Amino acid sequence: MEANLNKGIREVIDEFPAVEKILDEYGIACGPCSVGTCLLKDIVGIHDLPADKEQEMMARIAKIIYPDEVIEIPQVKRKVEDQPKEIKYSPPMKKLVDEHVLIKRWVALIPEVINNLNVESKEGRQLLLDGVDFIRSYADKYHHAKEEEVLFKYFDEDLDILKVMHEDHERGRSHVRTILEALERKDKAAIAEHLNAYRELLKEHIKKEDEILYPWMDRNLSDTQIGELFSEFNTTDEQIGFSPDKYEVFINHLEKKYLQKEA
Ligand SMILES: [Fe+2]
Ligand SMILES: [Fe+2]
Repeated sequence: MEANLNKGIREVIDEFPAVEKILDEYGIACGPCSVGTCLLKDIVGIHDLPADKEQEMMARIAKIIYPDEVIEIPQVKRKVEDQPKEIKYSPPMKKLVDEHVLIKRWVALIPEVINNLNVESKEGRQLLLDGVDFIRSYADKYHHAKEEEVLFKYFDEDLDILKVMHEDHERGRSHVRTILEALERKDKAAIAEHLNAYRELLKEHIKKEDEILYPWMDRNLSDTQIGELFSEFNTTDEQIGFSPDKYEVFINHLEKKYLQKEA
């Protein structure tokens, strides 16, 4: 078991495909991950499942890998014994989670933006340009920049989980470039395809950060580091050169337009 714990997850899944299904049942979605080099033991550690669930999952995985042997799974120790968890974020992590809320509201609007796509009218094109501006300025410059330029620097950037996050950010940027190129050609199908792909990407990305990455980071940062992080976030925000409030106004406006929400 030790040897398999130290293998990259893609390798383990390739050899024992049933492991992917088991991980999935415990909310650990490694199958679609494009990197796949995270070690099985790190994946188990990072997800911080309740002790009994982790034990049960590891026993099931051991049965797949060694069907004819009795494998003893060591007792999992936890500092606080396992209650169903409500995630408590430190103040800097809470700030990022709160920023995700506005990004998720934009992501939820994307199907309506696609349904009402009009590349012929000036207003229709402007709406798309405003959406792209939201992604580039708020989601990327304001939010992702804090992650990449501040938060991730507190950790070893060679960690696979951080590589996956960087890769997601880059894929998002690439979708935006393609959307703008498609707008030049008035290619509605390509715009819709890449808006949808961006939507799927961000939904999963935010979930990974809110539920796995940030709680894991909080567990590994000292109180001093958390304080430093918070003040660095504030400095970064002050230097951004625009007010994020106007993006909330933009989202409120779109919700009112498409979802008839009181904004
Ligand atoms: Fe991110
Ligand atoms: Fe994020």
